[in-house]
Order: sequence, then structure tokens, then C-alpha cells
Amino acid sequence: ETVEWEAASYDMGGHDTYMHKEISEQPDAVDRVLRGRIDDRFSTVHLGGLNLDPREARGIRRVKILGCGTSYHAGLIGASLIEGMARIPADAEPASEFRYRNPVVDPDTLYIAVSQSGETYDVLAAVQELKRKGARVLGVVNVVGSAIAREADGGVYVHAGPEVCVVSTKCFTNTVVAFALLAVHLGRIRDLSVTDGKRIIEGLRRLPAQIEEILKGEEDIKELAAQYADAKSMMFIGRVRGYPVALEASLKLKEISYIHAEAYPASELKHGPLALIEPAMPTVAIVPDDDLLEKNRAALEEIKARSGRILAVAHREQEKADHTIIVPKNEDELDPILMGIPLQLLAYHTALALGRDIDKPRNLAKSVTVE
Ligand code: AGP
Repeated sequence: ETVEWEAASYDMGGHDTYMHKEISEQPDAVDRVLRGRIDDRFSTVHLGGLNLDPREARGIRRVKILGCGTSYHAGLIGASLIEGMARIPADAEPASEFRYRNPVVDPDTLYIAVSQSGETYDVLAAVQELKRKGARVLGVVNVVGSAIAREADGGVYVHAGPEVCVVSTKCFTNTVVAFALLAVHLGRIRDLSVTDGKRIIEGLRRLPAQIEEILKGEEDIKELAAQYADAKSMMFIGRVRGYPVALEASLKLKEISYIHAEAYPASELKHGPLALIEPAMPTVAIVPDDDLLEKNRAALEEIKARSGRILAVAHREQEKADHTIIVPKNEDELDPILMGIPLQLLAYHTALALGRDIDKPRNLAKSVTVE
């Protein structure tokens, strides 16, 4: 599979930063990762480069996803999509941690390496170690023909197009969509029903227009960012599917605004971090309209009782929150994709308000090709 990235895609195209350009490109990028892969007749997904026949796919007993930074966070959502739809136990781990703990390498486990650049040393080294031990490794990679793409036995290209800004935005979104495609593919070979396959596929098709709608709310998010930019520290919370969204949003804020941020599962608050809550430490809460809504609302109450300021990302107004960013509802499984997007804009406008160098944050490189 070869894809030519045109020189024009490196042009700023009227945006002040690559980050802003890349956030804005997400509707098209998602469209691209879906294109040509959906099979409506069988309510499934075809992935040309996977190199995994149905019998092999049925023999997988575990899935282990490896990546770093934002790609690791996308992998966490990927694991829950695969476990939920294909009913295969799945988890994600930072590639560097995996490498150094001498993991048991199991022949019935499918390993998946995730990387935007396809060159991250820790991920590449994990892939090489796994291959040396005879494991099957797939890649979920953006850069075509990169080192990880070449080392892997097969995989899914993310087709986000070139990502120039050091912080990853559109590639995160597209990677999660690529995982959703893989989850439908594996699910439909195993236990995912035609009806559920169709439901997810229709949800995926709604994403580009819904992302467009979120992006239209940029001015409001900019105003919110101005109100929270004075924070020295911020808390991000989410539950189950919302937790990786909180992790990613907190990383984004740290990387470009240099505001300290913590991400916790909402349920962990009472086990310690609640001690940090006071008016000077605002909380961003991921509050989807799903079966955990009441639990999430209870967490908002706990924060409010400690005079914490709350910015909720939700499907409807949250009365305990000081502000709510409302995002369109999709299928529960796909909601994390949409909930991450306003928080990219929040990080962006916070960094802008603080006068940061957004495309080149201090101390960071686009891809970490050394140990
Ligand atoms: C993303 O905003 C980061 N700059 C960083 O965490 C990045 O995701 C990580 O270094 C992994 O890079 P990769 O996806 O190219 O492997």
C-alpha cells in the first residue's frame, strides 16, 4: 500500500499553526481512514494489509497493544474497543515498560504496535524483541513504509496525512478510528452480531460531520480557555471509556501550555487526589450519557462539595459543572473519539493565551528515535 503525501499538505493553508490546521483537518482525515474499508453487505470491515486469515483471527486469545505517549492513549481506547466488540481480553501498555520487564511472550497473543511516526525507538525495539521470540505483531501506523510498518507482520495504516506539529491531534483521532475498524473486523469474525456491526459502522460514518459540528464551537472553547488559563494545575477525570480521554487531554495541556495536569479515573478521586481539590485546581470531567452517567455525576458532586471549579465535556448540560462543553452523541463505544476533540482546542487556546510556541513545545521532539 503506497500513499503519496502531496507537498501542499505541508502548507499552513491559512492557519497560524500546524496544530490548528491539523485539528481542523480531522473531518477529512477520519473520512480517509474509513474510505474503501467498509463492507455493508456483511456489516464488516476489510483491512487489506492485515495478513491475518479468519482462522488465525479466531485463534487469538489475548491482544496486547504497545505504544508511547499519545499513541499509547489511543491504544488504551483501542484495547477497550477490541475487548468490547471482539470479546478478546485486550490491554495496552507503554512500549518502554513492556520492553524492560521481560514479559511472557505468548504465541496466542496478538501484539499491536501503535505509532504515528513509525520510528519511535521504544516501540520499534519492542516489536523487534517480540518478532525475535516468534510473536505475531501488527502495526497501527501513520507513516507509510516507516520502520515499524516494515518490521510488523501486517497492520492498518491510519491515513491521517502528514502531522507536522510536535503534539499529535488528528493522528490520535484517526488511530482510534483505525482501532474501531479493526475491532469490527475481528468482532465480525468472532461474536459481534450483524446488527451491532451495522450499528458501529453507521456510527463511524457519522463521525466526520459530528467533528465538524464540534469544531464550529471553537469560539466558545476559546473563551473557556481564557477563563482557565490562570490555573497552575488541572485535574482531568473520566471513567472506563472516558479515562483514556482524560489522560490524552491532560498530556495535550501539559505539552503545549506547560500547565501541570493530572489524569485520574473518576472512581480513584476518593482514594487520594480529592485532597488536591480547591478553587485553584479546576477539574475537566468527561461525562458521557451512558450507563455510568449517574456515577460520573456523583464525582462532580464530590468536587463541588470541595469548592472545585468544573468544566464538563458531556452530551447535555451538567448542573454541577461551572461550564459544560456539549458534544454530539454517537454510539457509546465511539463517544471517546468525539469527546477528545474539544479538549484539543482547549489545550490549544490555553497555550495561545499563555503565548506558548505551540508547534514546537520546549524539550520535545516529534519523534523520539533514541532510547
Ligand atoms: C504526542 O502529542 C506526543 N508528542 C508524544 O507523546 C508521541 O505521541 C509519542 O512520542 C509517540 O510517538 P509516535 O506515535 O510517533 O510513536
